Amino acid sequence: MSGRIYNFSSGPAVLPEAVLRRAQAAIWDLDGSGIGVLEHSHRGKAFMAVLERTEARLREVGRIPDSHAVLFLQGGASTQFFQVPMNFLGGGTADYCHTGVWSQKAIAEAGRYGTIHVACSSESTRFDHIPGPEATRWSAAPAYVHFTSNNTIFGTQWRQEPAVPAGADLVCDASSDIFSKPIDVSRYAMIYAGAQKNLGPAGVTLVIARKDFLERGSRELPTMLQYRTHVGEHSMFNTPPTFGIYVIGEVTAWIAEQGGLAPMAELNQAKAKVLYDFLDGSAFYRGTARADSRSLMNVTFRCRDEALEPALVAQATARGLDGLKGHRSVGGMRASIYNAFPMAGMHALVDFLHEFERAHAGAR
Ligand SMILES: Cc1ncc(COP(=O)(O)O)c(C=O)c1O
Repeated sequence: MSGRIYNFSSGPAVLPEAVLRRAQAAIWDLDGSGIGVLEHSHRGKAFMAVLERTEARLREVGRIPDSHAVLFLQGGASTQFFQVPMNFLGGGTADYCHTGVWSQKAIAEAGRYGTIHVACSSESTRFDHIPGPEATRWSAAPAYVHFTSNNTIFGTQWRQEPAVPAGADLVCDASSDIFSKPIDVSRYAMIYAGAQKNLGPAGVTLVIARKDFLERGSRELPTMLQYRTHVGEHSMFNTPPTFGIYVIGEVTAWIAEQGGLAPMAELNQAKAKVLYDFLDGSAFYRGTARADSRSLMNVTFRCRDEALEPALVAQATARGLDGLKGHRSVGGMRASIYNAFPMAGMHALVDFLHEFERAHAGAR
């Protein structure tokens, strides 16, 4: 880790060191081709091999069934906020679970194309929890149901998928927890994620979706906005984000080397527990998410004396603990600890928080 520090950024975020080293080498020479990955034609043999192996690795690690397509798109998750309703809403009604800033943005975009029924919301308690089935009302026949599996800004995460009515098509923004734990893809009509947290660099959006669902999409839209275009062309209708696809392939290989998604989930549990246990035992700090809804990816917390927070963030940065400042809309601190974030960094953070508390507890 020479010269590298602990990176708690919410995204783009820390990537596995082994992947960065492989990517360094591949920028110079991809798979012994004598040409770097950034320089290869997307239609040449070398890149076609990258595309194929990346999809194969994703299918293996994520147990993605043949019923579902794997697409590499562009425009970020924010493009999916409108591409989904453009394709599937058509003036009808869709149900949305409203659990934070990102669901708000998805709802706002979808409202341009039909009626949005907010099936559940945690807005009245500042998005500190995931609403349960008792607080959820589905509409009669939604075109689809949308939820955000991990709320990057408020530090909450669904433990399991919302219990949607039988036959409802479930669409998930999984940008900040994709491949952090096993997922039963067969339960989803669509999962989408910007890659820049758990999968790779910014600039590529992974879409995993049932082929028959995608086929139902509008035929009136520009070609690029119809999902069937990208299914038919294997994400090669236009120039795909080649480097991002390459890195996703290496990150997925790294996950496989760790044993797959179940060991990944265990490690993520253990990492988050180090910090949550410390916060729970402290009278100086407090976690902001309700215990039953806490995210394993983004731990949000505050000093009980909020005036101390700028000093905390500054001192942490000086100690090589970078990116702890909470999102500008909520303040406080946020430790983003995606798959690649090392356990040693959790202990370094807790040691620092302890020390900061000892130095300032008397001053409260
Ligand atoms: C849960 C979630 N959804 C969507 C987005 C937006 O993603 P993008 O910047 O790729 O459009 C983010 C970005 O942080 C996010 O955390």
